[in-house]
Amino acid sequence: MAGGAIISTSGGKEYPGKITLFVFLACLVASSGGLVAGYDIGISGGVTSMDSFLRNFFPLVYRKEEEHTSTNQYCKFDSQLLTLFTSSLYLAALVASFLASTVTRELGRKWSMFGGGITVLVGAAFNGAAENVIMLILGRILLGVGVGFMGQSVPLYLSEMAPAKLRGMLNIGFQLMITIGILAANLINYGVVRIAGGWGWRISLSLVAVPAAIITIGSLLLPDTPNSLLERGHADAAKAMLSKIRGTDDVHDEYDDLVAACEVSKLIKHPWKNILERKYRPQLIMVVLIPFFQQLTGINVIMFYAPVLFKTIGFGDDASLMSAVITGLVNVFATFVSIATVDRAGRRALFLQGGTQMLICQIIVGTLIGIQFGTRGVATISKAYGSCIVFFICVYVAGFAWSWGPLGILVPSEIFPLEIRSAGQSINVSVNLFFTFVIGQSFLTLLCHLKFGLFYFFGGWVLIMTVFIGLFLPETKNVPIERMILVWKKHWFWGKFIADEDVLHVGNKSNVGGV
Ligand code: BGC
Repeated sequence: MAGGAIISTSGGKEYPGKITLFVFLACLVASSGGLVAGYDIGISGGVTSMDSFLRNFFPLVYRKEEEHTSTNQYCKFDSQLLTLFTSSLYLAALVASFLASTVTRELGRKWSMFGGGITVLVGAAFNGAAENVIMLILGRILLGVGVGFMGQSVPLYLSEMAPAKLRGMLNIGFQLMITIGILAANLINYGVVRIAGGWGWRISLSLVAVPAAIITIGSLLLPDTPNSLLERGHADAAKAMLSKIRGTDDVHDEYDDLVAACEVSKLIKHPWKNILERKYRPQLIMVVLIPFFQQLTGINVIMFYAPVLFKTIGFGDDASLMSAVITGLVNVFATFVSIATVDRAGRRALFLQGGTQMLICQIIVGTLIGIQFGTRGVATISKAYGSCIVFFICVYVAGFAWSWGPLGILVPSEIFPLEIRSAGQSINVSVNLFFTFVIGQSFLTLLCHLKFGLFYFFGGWVLIMTVFIGLFLPETKNVPIERMILVWKKHWFWGKFIADEDVLHVGNKSNVGGV
């Protein structure tokens, strides 16, 4: 899932930037939200590759899997019910996120996070105790509802609690927590598969309760944000809260800005209509295409199904789960590369480099699998050959983790003017969840039909999106959000959508981020 916006309303002014206990606790809660999301992404593939789990819930898949390697390996996991176990979460999250945005606005961020946390706890209990497929899928749906609520409230809570200076960093920090959640899930799967009696999957599915408990308890202990108090008409309480979380009484500038931002957002009666205006066309197209492309990189084929994929190419239980741990580690470490370079090298350089790297790896992986398995899907491969495939999958994951992973969250959150930012963010999250569902549901069938060509299929999309970025995404590094419109105005293609009078209020004295 997408992390959501870290919204800056600072207007470039200096506010108190100290990390108080509240800010620290807010970060802790927010990280737990990222962990829940990541854990849910990483856990299902490992579990669905465990024999004891398949025997209990998906006996047909288990029987097909047990058949000799002389049968078509590409299709052995092809079951709509099995993929529904993974993907139902994202459909539920999509539906829940619409409701969650109203709850987050009307009742405050705190109760929305609390609701999300409780729902995940109940979902974890259903999954851990599951006796049949219905309980399993019900559990996944509850987890999805929780993820939908957290996806709306946690990033907003974090951005409103944190001092302005920290917002950009926290934005990628949320993605980092997602990757750590995925890795934690991979490690736990690797550990529990050894448990005698074959019930280790129950531990895997229940442990999401740990970060969920932190967020549930945390949300009860933490106050609501000043922005939310103000939005709901409690002006005095909002000001008192702002002093409390900043640890100083010197918050007048920030408070005045909050009041001004709140007034502006009250004036905007129709953000959904506004976003359709011609002058916002570039941002609208980006906020639909970026999350769409992010999912079409095929990353979740690896994040969801790495262990299943590795079993498909002939690895045993242990080796498959170990390989997933390795890809998980690469994912975490490569995200740091993005954190270190994004404001210097810029967004475009990372997108173009990461895209090229992913494309090359996809061609290599597809070809390596194609050479051995052909179109019939019958082969046994050597350990060295298998390791070579895992290596190129890791290089592919690294390319994603420093480009489309974090930038898929960062870029949409920084290109919108305030008046349509929340509408834009909702579109970003919804498109991301919808295509996460589509890929989750269709991957095993696509693998069965497209065979090794599946890697070329995603490679084709990566080529399209890399060319698209090259032609259509202007550089946004170091550009204050208020001046972002100038970047679009100067762009060779998007410039014609923006009239001269649309940029008059910004002024044109400065050189915008070198554009
Ligand atoms: C994507 C997820 C993906 C994750 C991998 C996120 O940015 O939205 O779908 O699983 O990155 O690290």
